[in-house]
Amino acid sequence: MLNKQLVALEKKLGVSTLTQIIEPFIQEQGIELYLKRDDLLHPVISGNKWRKLKYILEHALALKTHKIISMGGAYSNHLHALAYAGKLLGIRTEARIRGERPEVLNPTLSDMLNWGMHLEFVSRSDYRLLRAYKAYDTLPGLQEGEYWLPEGGAMDLALLGVAELIAEIDLDYDALCVPCGTATTLAGIVSAVPNDKQVFGFAALKGAAYLNDEVKSLLKNTACHNNEWVIQLQYHFGGFAKIRPELLQFIQQFEQTQSIKLEPIYTGKMLYGIYDLISQGYFKSGQRIIAIHTGGLQGNRGFSS
Ligand SMILES: Cc1ncc(COP(=O)(O)O)c(C=O)c1O
Repeated sequence: MLNKQLVALEKKLGVSTLTQIIEPFIQEQGIELYLKRDDLLHPVISGNKWRKLKYILEHALALKTHKIISMGGAYSNHLHALAYAGKLLGIRTEARIRGERPEVLNPTLSDMLNWGMHLEFVSRSDYRLLRAYKAYDTLPGLQEGEYWLPEGGAMDLALLGVAELIAEIDLDYDALCVPCGTATTLAGIVSAVPNDKQVFGFAALKGAAYLNDEVKSLLKNTACHNNEWVIQLQYHFGGFAKIRPELLQFIQQFEQTQSIKLEPIYTGKMLYGIYDLISQGYFKSGQRIIAIHTGGLQGNRGFSS
């Protein structure tokens, strides 16, 4: 049974509805596109953050963890959500942050500090080395009661929470789309969708073909038999957190016509990619596509500050 504190948190979450995207060129192709609004779940632990953290936090609480240590960039949605969750649950949190400490902390880092997270800045080379530690008890120097959470929450336990979003979808569909950073969310989706559904990931990073192996490795311990998944690698716009005018223009137009906020690192790139694929005739007429809005809107502050 889920920990009482997590049950209380889950009760306060918003409802992730399905919103149809009304766009003449999409309807003309005979395609239906929906957004699953995980961005509405919570202002901080939003989108895939709650999905991925739920059973990791459950595990950490069951182990009587007093501190969770994790890693991420200076605008990390993952660290931001973890800091907030740690404060709520009474677990101390610590972050290994990529790069030098900035003179002035950005809004994401300030929130994390205000929520009690200890911030440690590490060089890019040391940061890369941390990626080798993939299980909760593997970080060298870990003390009793401390829990290591790999980058982006990339652990088997994250897949269980992501899988729950599939059960919430009460509409028949042909394909699911999701943005990819570590591709843990994609793996969780693939682990849970019926075999006849296609799943498309949209890589937020350049040169992300290695994610295919990451997904296979995350799926190894699941009973998944779905092979209908593909990671689209061509919508990175130059690399992680890189943006181009055509992407910003797309996001602005989408926000105006659909009244739904996006961010340029994950959901903006995914939707740009979906629109592009639809316009190329990649999807068949009559297909219904559901894209997951994975939240992360706090990161937008990085583009206005
Ligand atoms: C808003 C948002 N969407 C998508 C992703 C990508 O998720 P994953 O790392 O599971 O591929 C992230 C990163 O965790 C994110 O913050």
